[in-house]
Amino acid sequence: MLIELDGHGPLYLQLYRAVKALILSGVLSEGQKLPPTRQLAKQLSVSRNVVMLGYDQLKAEGYVVGGFGSGTRVVELLPEDRVHGSIGREAKQTESFEPAPISEQAEIALGYWRERAKLNQDQHRSLRYDFRYGDIEVDTQSIKIWKQLSSRLFTKSVHQYADPQGDWLLRDKVAEHLNQLRGCHCSAGQIAIVNGSQQALDIIARLFIANSETVIVEEPGYQAARAVFQAAGAKIHSIAVDQDGMQTEKLPVRPGSARLAYVTPSHQFPTGAILSLARRLALLEWAAQSQAYIIEDDYDSEFRFEGRPISALQGLDYRGRTLYVGTFSKVLFPALRIGYVVLPPNLVEPFIALRWHADRHTNTHQQRVLAEFIAQGHYERHLRRMRKRYEGRRQRLITLLETHFGTALELQGTNAGLHLMVQFKDRILKTKEAEILKAASAAGLGIYPASPLYQTPPDRLGLLFGYGAIDESEIEPGILLLKQVIESFQQA
Ligand SMILES: Cc1ncc(COP(=O)(O)O)c(C=O)c1O
Repeated sequence: MLIELDGHGPLYLQLYRAVKALILSGVLSEGQKLPPTRQLAKQLSVSRNVVMLGYDQLKAEGYVVGGFGSGTRVVELLPEDRVHGSIGREAKQTESFEPAPISEQAEIALGYWRERAKLNQDQHRSLRYDFRYGDIEVDTQSIKIWKQLSSRLFTKSVHQYADPQGDWLLRDKVAEHLNQLRGCHCSAGQIAIVNGSQQALDIIARLFIANSETVIVEEPGYQAARAVFQAAGAKIHSIAVDQDGMQTEKLPVRPGSARLAYVTPSHQFPTGAILSLARRLALLEWAAQSQAYIIEDDYDSEFRFEGRPISALQGLDYRGRTLYVGTFSKVLFPALRIGYVVLPPNLVEPFIALRWHADRHTNTHQQRVLAEFIAQGHYERHLRRMRKRYEGRRQRLITLLETHFGTALELQGTNAGLHLMVQFKDRILKTKEAEILKAASAAGLGIYPASPLYQTPPDRLGLLFGYGAIDESEIEPGILLLKQVIESFQQA
């Protein structure tokens, strides 16, 4: 048995820690004898007294029993087991437990969580070429400025509880940005700063859903939104998306038939379709007639590479039916966890009240840094730099997909955002989706299926390619590897 001391602190405590770790990880099992003190002292080149003190500590904490003559043994029931189950034994322990009595909502959330975990199980595998969607490029220039601002703004004024609606300066800057560049009509008073759009969706769900109300979502659509609504107790009504976005003519006509409609009109997730003006107007009319609200998730519209920027639905809405949700996760970085919502004036107070229950407010210091980053013009410069970089990758990815796959696949949603979607025409590939993903991963290629984003997946293989984090030089070898994988399944 290998007992290794970590070199920190008194020797007897080092020994105690080492033996305890072996017990908790199951290397030393219940009832097993520890080495005699004299023998272990010799093996570790320490005095016998050190070993005896270490064993005494383990005994005092209930990990071992015995001593003097009979030897020291690991107890049958560990202290951790008595309280909550031990580290190394987690799996063994939980098997024998009854399922925890959790709410129906938590059960739904757990289902989504486990599905996600299954999809991400290869996340820690070292991939040579990874087209993961959601990751972004970390810009060293902006990080340097961020650090300087961070240090300067870490003053006394950011240490107390603050306004749950968000820092006024940041709200003002966000309102200015949205009015000028996104065609919104809003004031700082209508904006609430949140910990990313995900928190906004959660609060909105609690604002409107109580008794199985219906929420309209896009098909395919953003799974994290669907999960929140469903876990809040909503009935989900999916409406198919085509090249002009959600097919609004399929919206339920009966007034009161739905409480909310969640849409991504500027760059539909995941297909990239842009909701046409006619459908935007139809959606707003439907919301007014049905007494429903629209959640407009404008998650990545800062990155538009072709065509004119499309004004937000919020700017077309004069009847106060739109809740516009935005995020800094794509333009800056997702770990920042700062997003915002533009609310119709009558919903500001209830939204803030619910938000206050969740976590009081978003980190004040980071809000100030962000407000200053925008106010000093760094945000605009950052955006211009990033657009250029992402545009290069987007072009490269499109060219390579077209060169190597030609008409074998259809490209979708290429003109904006940080991802695009492809659909292979060969139906055989769809039947082999799981094997293709596995083979790609084994070859060091990270590709991501579109199927989890559908309630009813189509009969063609769809893949999502994120180009936020992949280096431009890695795109070509990545696509060539994909070609090899796909061809091996076509020939098989
Ligand atoms: C459709 C959609 N909305 C919102 C987000 C951003 O979420 P958050 O602001 O919580 O990071 C993403 C991120 O991947 C997304 O795909």
